[in-house]
Amino acid sequence: MGAAAVVGMASVTGSGWPLAAAKDKTMDVKLVAVPESLPEKVFTTERVGISRKTHEEHLKLWQGYARKTNEIRQKLAALDADPAKANQIYSDIRALKADYSFAYEGLINHNVYFDTIGGAGGPATGRIATLIEQAYGSFEAWVQDLKATGMGARGWVFTAYDHEEKRIFNYLGDAQNTFPIWNHTLVLALDVYEHAYYLDFATARAKYLDAYVQVIDWNAVNARLG
Ligand SMILES: [Fe+2]
Repeated sequence: MGAAAVVGMASVTGSGWPLAAAKDKTMDVKLVAVPESLPEKVFTTERVGISRKTHEEHLKLWQGYARKTNEIRQKLAALDADPAKANQIYSDIRALKADYSFAYEGLINHNVYFDTIGGAGGPATGRIATLIEQAYGSFEAWVQDLKATGMGARGWVFTAYDHEEKRIFNYLGDAQNTFPIWNHTLVLALDVYEHAYYLDFATARAKYLDAYVQVIDWNAVNARLG
């Protein structure tokens, strides 16, 4: 796996502005690691009804996001990034970059999901407990908001730390790449796509959410706060 990113070498006109990038195609494209397996702690969620089979199938999707991230990076590296060929209706660079955010966010979201599941659950501990209290008044109120957001979302709930306001918020996500806000740190990612629970709870998403809050790894959440 190469480590160096592809860097365009700009040509310079008489005006001094770079107009075209001539890529050195011999340079390696920086690729992400494709996850090979799940952390063993993840499977402890069987105690609340989120099965090993669900996680094993979920791993395949996680791997898919990593592979597609790499595929797009390679295609972008090979692309002739000529502004004259780019088009907002359809163009190769538009298609690749729009779906790049879906693929790479899909990888990152699942990195956080599988890092922060498989813990003791229960009331939050450490710094995140303080942040939850500051933002929501109590742990119970935060859980209620988390579950309601989870029922209202089509894909994710993202608990993120807002560096602008120095507080956390439960964001709603309809897809891998909606609706993040800049200058946040993602500390907890709750997958509410059907693939995360249908095998175990059928359409009863609320039961999955009840189970989920019993297996949050608060140590991992606190580690993400830094
Ligand atoms: Fe997922």
